[in-house]
Amino acid sequence: MSYFNEFLKDKSVGAISSSSKAMGRKMYGSFNLKEADAVVEFGAGDGVFTEEILKLIGPNTKFFVFETNELFYKILKEKINDERVILINDSAEKIGFYIKNQKINKVDYIISALPLSLIPIDIKNSIIQNSIEYLKIDGQYVQFQYTPYDYRRLKRYFNKVKLSLTFTNFPPAFLYRCYP
Ligand SMILES: C[S@@+](CC[C@H](N)C(=O)[O-])C[C@H]1O[C@@H](n2cnc3c(N)ncnc32)[C@H](O)[C@@H]1O
Repeated sequence: MSYFNEFLKDKSVGAISSSSKAMGRKMYGSFNLKEADAVVEFGAGDGVFTEEILKLIGPNTKFFVFETNELFYKILKEKINDERVILINDSAEKIGFYIKNQKINKVDYIISALPLSLIPIDIKNSIIQNSIEYLKIDGQYVQFQYTPYDYRRLKRYFNKVKLSLTFTNFPPAFLYRCYP
């Protein structure tokens, strides 16, 4: 499978290669994943973060993994065999439906690699609104992007947003830490 070929076929993939594990560690390394009841990943791609997050969550943590691209979903399905994972071939704004289906009201963390700049505005707003609705009050939404353009939008919805730049990835990326 070539990431680049998939990007040519499906622009909503939003990247021509996988992210670095080092950037993943920057995103969620400070989270208390061991104690989390529920963790969500948006835009898992080929699972570069998924497999690392699985090593960090607790034995009873539920891990919801969203991926819309059919090929990546198939790869994830083949690669991941873990009863803590709920693998979802659907769009991130449906978070509420899937967590309620597992009798969960709120999640501890949302780790997002969604290409926000390529997602239509109404869907993007709905993803952000629903993320806040289903995030615990002391939870965190973390997002990487190659541009800082969504800072204002995220700021409009979240109580606090911290923006930083990381060079642990090529190309370097912006990290948005968002607090409800
Ligand atoms: C930039 S890639 C990141 C993949 C991987 N997490 C990484 O960091 O290498 C973004 C992923 O989000 C997926 N995606 C795009 N829109 C989505 C949506 N609305 N809901 C869920 N996944 C989506 C794409 O198919 C793609 O695999």
